[in-house]
Amino acid sequence: MATSRASAFVDKDRLWRRHAAMAAFGAIPGNGVNRAALSAEDIEARRTFVAWGAERGYAAFTDAIGNLFLRRPGRDPAAAPVLTGSHLDSQPRGGRFDGTYGVLAGLEALEALDDAGIATERPIEVVSWTNEEGSRFQPGTMGSVAFIGLRSPADFADVRDAAGVPFTAELARALAALPQATPRPFGWPVHAFVEAHIEQGPVLYDRGETIGAVDSIQGARWFQVELRGETSHAGTTPLAARRDAVQAAVRCIAGLNDLMHDPADVLRFTVGRVDVEPNVPNSVASRAAFTIDLRHPEATVLAARGERIAEVCRAAAGACAVAVSETLSMPPCRFDAGIVDRVEHHAQALGLPVRRMPSGAFHDAGYMAGFCPTAMIFIPCERGISHNEAENATPDDLAAGARVLAEVLVDLAG
Ligand code: GLV
Ligand code: MN
Ligand code: MN
Ligand code: MN
Repeated sequence: MATSRASAFVDKDRLWRRHAAMAAFGAIPGNGVNRAALSAEDIEARRTFVAWGAERGYAAFTDAIGNLFLRRPGRDPAAAPVLTGSHLDSQPRGGRFDGTYGVLAGLEALEALDDAGIATERPIEVVSWTNEEGSRFQPGTMGSVAFIGLRSPADFADVRDAAGVPFTAELARALAALPQATPRPFGWPVHAFVEAHIEQGPVLYDRGETIGAVDSIQGARWFQVELRGETSHAGTTPLAARRDAVQAAVRCIAGLNDLMHDPADVLRFTVGRVDVEPNVPNSVASRAAFTIDLRHPEATVLAARGERIAEVCRAAAGACAVAVSETLSMPPCRFDAGIVDRVEHHAQALGLPVRRMPSGAFHDAGYMAGFCPTAMIFIPCERGISHNEAENATPDDLAAGARVLAEVLVDLAG
């Protein structure tokens, strides 16, 4: 695992400029980004990614869910490529680094290899997975679950965003916007996948460390709870006669807070979205729907708490009807020890403070880990803040992660 010349050719300024350029697509006040999956802004970001690759002669490929791949050839064109990358879609009030960093660090690593004159045996590809965030279209990580064959695009045929726009129509528009990307099937052999990402938590930042050699991701389950009551006049309807969906939702959430209580503070339980109909001050709500995001490193805990959600909601729903459905289930994963070792080794060889650590956030790497040897590289973000327009990272840390990534890719691609 000697250090190659590649890391010395990582260009900090180029990487920083590209983050600034990408941040223009969907820019929102406070330095943030709103680049919903398959929106016009996401399409512009995708086109730019492909154009930057074309400047280096990297061919672009896409598949039936719009995952985008840029390929740097290897000496053996038939060899399974090493894959790196992340996602270009963002949260509605997201930052400029979540996901984008992994895509741009991958491109930067390939350009560094070019500039260093390094040829690899295997091709190396950079991917931008479709709809990692799941904030516009649920569930998230659609691109990677389709790639590995866990779900098919047909499973998402009925998915619509909050405005009723169908996922399939937006996907077709995004695919049509990139005619230069050659269509490809799903699930072709991948030698290894390495995803670079900001940590999105405070561990590296608080300790002044530069690189996380990520060895695992905690599991996540998403649920949708829907309460159906009856709308009626707020000024006249006696409380006992109401079927108030908002009050039922409040009771459900209170019951779930008790169910999810964890004295060790390891379990994460979030109700991040509540939809109410008709959503006016002077009518009792006929419908209230809310999301549940449940996380824990142990599958047994996720199973045990998750199984009780419907029962807790039924007990709390009173006169309302309740339906609970699961929209995402990502089991806890452990990454490939050999790649985690390589990340740690190259960080040390480059003189960068490194820590082995788990990921609290989920990533497409969590699904890829079941498909091919996979690991992740974290860099610090300011105060650990993410899914927030204030998300920030330094040019030095971004470049440091890209240098480690370049070395790991050279190592894996031979
Ligand atoms: C990814 O965005 C996550 O929610 O962990
Ligand atoms: Mn992300
Ligand atoms: Mn995110
Ligand atoms: Mn994410």
